[in-house]
Amino acid sequence: MPTRAVRLNGSEVTADYESAGTGTSQASEPLLYWLRDRLDQHGPRFGCGIAQCGACTVLLDGAATRSCVRQMHTVADEADIRTLDGLAAPGGEPHPLQRAFTALQAAQCGFCANGLIMGSLAWLESRIAAGNNAVPTEQEIKDFLSGASPDNTRNYLCRCGTHTRIVAAVGAAAKEMIG
Ligand code: FES
Ligand code: FES
Repeated sequence: MPTRAVRLNGSEVTADYESAGTGTSQASEPLLYWLRDRLDQHGPRFGCGIAQCGACTVLLDGAATRSCVRQMHTVADEADIRTLDGLAAPGGEPHPLQRAFTALQAAQCGFCANGLIMGSLAWLESRIAAGNNAVPTEQEIKDFLSGASPDNTRNYLCRCGTHTRIVAAVGAAAKEMIG
């Protein structure tokens, strides 16, 4: 069985993965299964399994990635992976996005929260890294989350429909992250 060694939430980890075939016919288990089943990461969720909802989002080398459709043989050794499980500070202090989602009760069932938080994290960090220190407007947040933004063409679904509070939570976290 092939093995992959990556950096997961700041720690070096190694685990096997299922794979079959070779070359263009090669197929392997999804990154989502690898993280959940072999590495005990339970932040990313299986929602649709076809890259439509965002519930499985993790950061792969800084980019929001739908892990349900990312096959393990396409993930490089030494890749940097971040999951919701590792988002809090080492002392346990929640990240501003986690704090805002809790304080503003942005989730109802909570199934979508992983994707919304990790997708927003990648978006806000990339804006800040590019020197954009403006707090995003409500419309920019809506465009981002609905996939109507130049920064993101894939939407993040909330089946419970708590969108108003989600938008408010992303805005509150952005203010804190930008300072
Ligand atoms: S479970 Fe991956 S996008 Fe829905
Ligand atoms: S809170 Fe239930 S899917 Fe979003």
